Parts: sequence; structure tokens; C-alpha cells
Amino acid sequence: MYILGGTSAKNVAENLAKRLRQPLLHAIYKRFPDDEFYVRVLDNIAGEDVLIVQTAYPDQKIVELLLMQDAVHGAGAKKITIVLPYFGYSRQDKKFEDGEAISAQTIAQHISLRADCVITVDPHKEHIVKFFTVPAYSCSAVSTIARYLKEKHVDFILAPDEGARERAKQAAALIDCEYDYLEKTRIDGTTVKITPKQLDARGKHVAIIDDIISTGSTMSNSIKELKKQGAKSVSVACTHGLFIGGAKEKLLAADCDEIISTDTIETEFSKVSVAECIAETLLKTAPHIKN
Ligand code: R5P
Repeated sequence: MYILGGTSAKNVAENLAKRLRQPLLHAIYKRFPDDEFYVRVLDNIAGEDVLIVQTAYPDQKIVELLLMQDAVHGAGAKKITIVLPYFGYSRQDKKFEDGEAISAQTIAQHISLRADCVITVDPHKEHIVKFFTVPAYSCSAVSTIARYLKEKHVDFILAPDEGARERAKQAAALIDCEYDYLEKTRIDGTTVKITPKQLDARGKHVAIIDDIISTGSTMSNSIKELKKQGAKSVSVACTHGLFIGGAKEKLLAADCDEIISTDTIETEFSKVSVAECIAETLLKTAPHIKN
């Protein structure tokens, strides 16, 4: 199997190549003066299995992915597996109002056109993998994140909302500590309200776990609540760190002690890699890769 790492997932692709002991492909990526993307795969991949690794976020990276798929298909690859460390557009997974597009479905269908299999990490809702029209699997970075938090002596895990409760429960079980969750109401895209609730966090090193940190509003409000209740330290951990609209500043202003993210989106906070959970899923779904 050959691995083609896209411009939005270099770290994951390199880590995967090392873990799976499979070669990385050579390719030319460039942009024309009008900013349109160009890709050319330089190796001979006719009849080979190819793994394309590319985070589908932001929009430009989705176009890059579609062109990479076309290049690999046109060069005669036998089987094309797409690894989407972060599946952009996955949060619009249904029609919330009449007349809306189901973005997750649209993007999934287009990616499926030139794919035999898809693997993604911690999708916002599990059912979105069914939007792909080829076999699709998800894996979770929770155990990788939990291992990091355990080394940091975290002794209480908090989910900022019901949606993240299961994730917090799993992490707490791996760390062997307590967990709880908060109730969150989303007012609009950048404003959330956290309902105050008594937590058993006094004097504890707490980590708040979520799938995504976007504007940082959910996490910063949760940090404030924990600090008010006497937590000794509060770190925030997520799989997908988008950190948009001054999220970093918002978290630091809320007195966040550490920000932890994976490398599904590469930032200064990417402290652990999702390559491990992707490799495990690949070996389960395509055991012939093992050499
Ligand atoms: C939403 O349900 C997600 O799990 C996250 O809680 C959300 O995306 C975080 O967004 P923000 O950082 O903008 O509060």
C-alpha cells in the first residue's frame, strides 16, 4: 500500500506511514496564479492500493482532496482508501430548517465517487459515516487523549454537554477517575450558556473533553464554572481543534491551564496524534496491509 499525504494532514500521513511501515508517495502540489489547485502523483501506482490522507477542512482542502482522488484514480490505483482525520461539514448532519442542505451528506457523497473505503476520526455524530456510499468506518482518539491526560495527573474529567458525556465516561474509565457533565444551551454560533451545577471538582486537576473546539465558547464558559467551584487546574482537550475567532485568547482569558488537541487539524496545540487509532482501524478493516 502507498500513502498520499495531502497538504492538510502531513503529520498524520507521516505518522501512519511509520506505523504501518508503508511508503509515502511523491507528489507535486501547487497553486496557479488564480489560486486553483494542481496535483500530480509522481510514482507509478498502477494496480496498487493507495491511502489518501487529507483533512476535509476548510473548503479549499475539500477541493484538494477531490483532485487527489482523481489523480490517484487516473493513475490506475486498484483500491483507494480515504482517511479523513477531520470531516468538515459534518455538524450539519440533518435539515434543522426547511430548505437547508444536508452538508455532511453532500460532502460524503462527493468523496465516495472516487473511493473504495473511508475512515474518519471522532465524527460529530456517528450516523454520518452512513452518508458515504462506500464502506466507511470511524475511530476514536479518546484513548490517546486519555493517556496524555493520565501522564499529566488529571483526576477529574468533565463533559461540557450531554453530547460529550460518553467520551468523558470513556476517558475517565481509562484514567481511573471520576467524571461528570454540564448542561449547555447554544444561543447562536458563538454564544453558549452553561447551566451552573455543583461538581465534585474542588482541589482537583480537571480536564474538559469535547470532540471539537471551535470558537472556544463552550470550553471557556465551562472553565469559568470549574474555577468558581475551586478546581486546582483546568485543561481542555479535544480531537478537532479549529480554534477560530480568537478561541485561544478566550481560553487563556478564562484561566485555562493547558490546551490539548490532536493533529486532525495541525496547530500549536496538536500534542497527540490520531495515527494510532487510524492504523488500528485500517489493520482491522484491511488486515492484508500488515507486512
Ligand atoms: C458541539 O456540539 C460540539 O461538540 C462542540 O461542543 C462545539 O463545536 C464547540 O464549539 P465552540 O468552541 O464554538 O463552543
